[in-house]
Amino acid sequence: MNHRTPKTAQPPHSTAIIGLQWGDEGKGKAVDRLAADHDVVVRFNGGANAGHSVVVGGTRFALHLIPSGILHQGKLAVIGNGVVVDTEKLLQELEGLEGRGVKTGGLVLSDRAHIVAPYHKMEDSLREELLRASIAGDSSGGAASGGGDIGTTKRGIGPAYAEKIHRSTAVRAGDLLRPEVLREKVSRACMFKNSQLSGMAERVGGATARDFVPFDPEKISRDLLEHGEKLRARIQDTTYLLHDLLSQGKRILFEGANATLLDVDHGTFPFVTSSSTTVHGIGPGTGVSERCLSSVLGVMKAYTTRVGRGPMPTELFDDIGNRIRERGREYGTTTGRPRRVGWLDLVAVKYAAMVNGITGIVLTMLDVLDGIDELRVCTAYEIDGKRTERFVPDGPELIKAKPVYTAFKGFSADLSGVRTLEDLPAGARRYLEFIENYVGVRLALVGVGPGREQTIECGG
Ligand code: IMP
Repeated sequence: MNHRTPKTAQPPHSTAIIGLQWGDEGKGKAVDRLAADHDVVVRFNGGANAGHSVVVGGTRFALHLIPSGILHQGKLAVIGNGVVVDTEKLLQELEGLEGRGVKTGGLVLSDRAHIVAPYHKMEDSLREELLRASIAGDSSGGAASGGGDIGTTKRGIGPAYAEKIHRSTAVRAGDLLRPEVLREKVSRACMFKNSQLSGMAERVGGATARDFVPFDPEKISRDLLEHGEKLRARIQDTTYLLHDLLSQGKRILFEGANATLLDVDHGTFPFVTSSSTTVHGIGPGTGVSERCLSSVLGVMKAYTTRVGRGPMPTELFDDIGNRIRERGREYGTTTGRPRRVGWLDLVAVKYAAMVNGITGIVLTMLDVLDGIDELRVCTAYEIDGKRTERFVPDGPELIKAKPVYTAFKGFSADLSGVRTLEDLPAGARRYLEFIENYVGVRLALVGVGPGREQTIECGG
């Protein structure tokens, strides 16, 4: 008889960190803090559209592609197969970190991660321009039909994911080490892109049409092969790598990029990004099952921000909004665009908590709300005269939602040095308790400043 000894399964002890709003919740700082208790930090979605900023020892690091865990010496940082990688940006980011004394030897890139090529970035820009032109004269700015531009980061993210789904023209990191395969793929891709993009440029007209130069497959291949050489030691099968590490009992921290309301399936479509940004992106984006997770932490700001277009029911257009933007330094890490700012939308957060099955909340930027007389929190929407506590993950529907607010007396105190919940002013404690009760999940951490140490541990 052929007896097989079952492999002893490791109990789940990995963690996922996921944004619960429209991005920029402060996930980078949370990842940086939790990395100390994990062996590996893994990115599974998105690309250089993400921007994580982390302050360590007074120095601010802005990372786009590299998992923030890289700032912890001795940790492995993995870019999983679900990420789309602009290798030029990745090399620049590595150089920037090395230049500031950060060792990057622990960075590994999946051989199956798809490559963002120059034609994807141009397509991203041209599509946005044509979509913007298509809604000129529309009073809702195209939002009523879900049309118009998306306000993308123009990093080529959507076109690169579309290429992945098209298949035969898509380049993966492993191809950068196989010159013949790469050249063939890039030639095929350029054949499609040159005819498509020249037509689009023509339609945009003016300087765009005049300056359009067809992409040269030989030049692109040469550049990508050069990037491949520089990245050779890092490119490998990360699925087996992660499973080997899990079977050795190592703990993985999965770092979600972008955020739940930007998820291509569960977000405010079409005003979303092109990847699976929720916890459910981990399986396809790494080849590792969600069953390895013992906790899923959802990161939310004490208020709401959004970059790019699309509905945001609690958006503020007044002095309070400006004040929050300035105090919270609410300008995009990737594009520098001022972020749209609004009151905390708990309908949206509770939905995101549900979709991800979160086990704890990381609340950030509480200190930014100091000094506002009255704080408001959205606890329901009114849509077409009907009240609902359910989120509407659809752009053209959500635009109709009017926020129903619960108001609180604000708090006035410098929170930057507070390290326990008990030391928070009563107004801030009430605010946090309300959030916990509404969402139905306990707080794990509360951020009161950008520094690694400016955090309250809540035990949740
Ligand atoms: P894309 O991901 O560049 O295609 O942009 C699609 C939408 O997602 C735009 O509204 C972007 O502003 C938004 N977006 C993408 N990544 C992030 C992020 O990391 N933070 C905030 N917004 C993002």
